[in-house]
Amino acid sequence: MENETKTIIVEKETQSMPRLGEAAPYFEANTTHGMKKLSDYKDKWLILFSHPADFTPVCTTEFIAFQEIKPELDKRGVDLLGLSIDSIYSHIAWERTIEEKFGKKIEFPIIDDLSMKVANAYGMIQPGEASTAASRCVFVIDDKQKIRAMIYYPLSAGRNMDEILRLIDSLQTTDKHSVATPANWRPGEKVIIPPAGTAKLAEERMKDKSLDCVDWFFCKKSI
Ligand code: BEZ
Repeated sequence: MENETKTIIVEKETQSMPRLGEAAPYFEANTTHGMKKLSDYKDKWLILFSHPADFTPVCTTEFIAFQEIKPELDKRGVDLLGLSIDSIYSHIAWERTIEEKFGKKIEFPIIDDLSMKVANAYGMIQPGEASTAASRCVFVIDDKQKIRAMIYYPLSAGRNMDEILRLIDSLQTTDKHSVATPANWRPGEKVIIPPAGTAKLAEERMKDKSLDCVDWFFCKKSI
């Protein structure tokens, strides 16, 4: 038990956790599509995601689901990059099996992170879940290479692709219009105007017929 605690502490020390709004940790890694580095994705959005292991059932469903939303991500200018602590040969064999048994060709690259360099830089190893496998993490990295969102899921729960697309839509919409999005927002629905910071602005908001204000601090609008 003591040894187990020590191992967890050591692993925690070697890992860093990325933070929202900060530069995405740099990486250069071998992938199923050759060497890839963070700067290859400059001026594009990137979803960097990890999975615990190749040839496991939940991960297989997730890979098929990520491939299925790829056309929607392409429309939004978002690339996909997978990662696990498995070899390139394992990734290739698994991709081939997915195509043969499930009829789905995986078209995005997958990082071979046997060294755990990228996983440690992004805090993907959550020792309480597993110390030799990455958890189900999703990092949304914007076109300025900043970390804009992070999702951490346990090994037992496959991720929801609708939510990942919704999150991208929210980030891109709020960037474009300087607004925020409410709970369960979907594209086409009204967005939230950031709260008025002065009494004068609060007064003006309540008089503005183009806004849908419940109170001075709670206004929505169509975009
Ligand atoms: C899976 O993908 O099925 C899986 C992977 C690691 C632990 C549990 C389930």
